[in-house]
Amino acid sequence: MADRPTPLGRYPQTRLRRNRRDAWSRRLVAESRLSVDDLIWPLFVREGENAIEAVPSMPGVERVSVDRLAERAAEAVEFGIPALAIFPATPPEKKTPDGDEALNPDNLVCSAVRAVKAAGLELGVICDVALDPYTSHGQDGLVREGYVVNDETVEMLCQQALVQAEAGCDVIAPSDMMDGRIGALRVTLDGAGFEHVRLMAYSAKYASVYYGPFRDAVGSASAIGQGDKRTYQMNPANSDEALREVALDLAEGADMVMVKPGMPYLDIVQRVKQRFGVPTYVYQVSGEYAMLKAAGEKGWLDGDGAILEALQGFKRAGADGIFTYAALDVAKRLRSG
Ligand code: PBG
Repeated sequence: MADRPTPLGRYPQTRLRRNRRDAWSRRLVAESRLSVDDLIWPLFVREGENAIEAVPSMPGVERVSVDRLAERAAEAVEFGIPALAIFPATPPEKKTPDGDEALNPDNLVCSAVRAVKAAGLELGVICDVALDPYTSHGQDGLVREGYVVNDETVEMLCQQALVQAEAGCDVIAPSDMMDGRIGALRVTLDGAGFEHVRLMAYSAKYASVYYGPFRDAVGSASAIGQGDKRTYQMNPANSDEALREVALDLAEGADMVMVKPGMPYLDIVQRVKQRFGVPTYVYQVSGEYAMLKAAGEKGWLDGDGAILEALQGFKRAGADGIFTYAALDVAKRLRSG
């Protein structure tokens, strides 16, 4: 076989399997690498004391009271995770049509941020800007005559960002998809002396059914009911439009941009990273996490291995960092090799 002539010369000169033969050479030729530095850990907070409850649709994920948050933060630091994203499960009685609780400087998310920051850890804290945890209808903005109005919502989001920055939030992450909010937020934050607070724009956020378990976790699922967010979140059919969203957010002052969900939108991650070359993040959302975990629990596949493979896919596509509910497990796994 070795000497058999072929149209390309001796059979086969190029054997791609050579580099795959041993673990050391597989490591040497790896093109992308998943590291703990890439991980952002989303956490859900709830009211009460010493309270920890499971989120049924997200195996392994919990809502914890503010007094139990610092220990989570310490674990994140212990395993090298650079940043947390904190999401509040606001009790229904605090939700109103206009979501005024968002502006309460002592609301759940602000208390949580203060608790984490008081621990004095080297750990970034990211907060969503959007009204859906606080509105009785579950929409991300103010509803007037059945429509989520843009400019009035943006004014409120700016106020929301200010109370979060005052609480000590390091990164404001607007997930609302209103037009013009990045520019307005930048001016508002700078005007109040928060020029160091970063803006991570959920730039290409799609109107996705994969957010279902998250809406259970924060209690907005029953609020939104049969409603949807298609008048502001993007149509899953579109990808040029995602580039326009990113371009606008960058022009308005975004420090980092995000694509969300992750796995069905890898092409968007790749296009954004290639076109703009800016810090690009991706959110492995609740539904992606739930699917992989559920299949793992059923014994249909190796759930944790499937999560790692998905995260590796995000890195290969060009992501600089990943929001994942599995961040702590993954960080532990990466450490133990
Ligand atoms: C709120 C928000 C959502 C998610 C993050 N921020 C839900 C939504 O827009 O309905 C989803 C996160 C996930 O599914 O893991 N605007």
